[in-house]
Amino acid sequence: MTQLQLQQEANAAAHPSESGSHWREYFSFSTDHKVIGIQYLVTSFMFYLVGGVLADLVRTELKTPESDFVSPEVYNSLFTLHGTIMIFLWIIPSLTGGFGNYLVPLLIGARDMAFPRLNALAFGLFRPQVCCSLVASLWVRPKLVGPLTP
Ligand code: HEM
Repeated sequence: MTQLQLQQEANAAAHPSESGSHWREYFSFSTDHKVIGIQYLVTSFMFYLVGGVLADLVRTELKTPESDFVSPEVYNSLFTLHGTIMIFLWIIPSLTGGFGNYLVPLLIGARDMAFPRLNALAFGLFRPQVCCSLVASLWVRPKLVGPLTP
């Protein structure tokens, strides 16, 4: 295999979008900062939609003064999860991971991020980490305490 062929294979692996491949390949492992930026933006937008559904559930409960849609404990869980998802799975990943990855190398005139494979690994760990956090939250139970006043 010639040096040129090796280079073309390496480029195709690092820039799947440029090889005209399917969108699934675009969302597989890539060290291209633009691809990783878009991967973050699309993934975090999915979590924005999840947070939006939770906001709708909170709104439905608040529609009437009575606690007639969900129990107070579930209401607390819903808006806590809504806030946590919106901040940690939408705002922070889309600003730092999404726009940061896409724009910073372009703005400073660099070819890519300093450690492209570490960057790709970080995105690879993003979704498993989110799944672990959300699944772990199922084990969080409100501590049943008495009234605050003695
Ligand atoms: C960037 C972050 C956030 C976005 C984009 C966002 C978005 C929304 C949206 C679209 C609604 C529906 C509003 C409505 O139907 O009237 C909502 C409701 C709500 N959000 Fe957020 N939210 C964010 C962060 C938070 C945080 C951090 C908290 C608190 C921990 C929070 C608590 C609530 C509550 C309690 C409601 C229900 C209020 C109501 O509908 O009257 N949100 N949010």
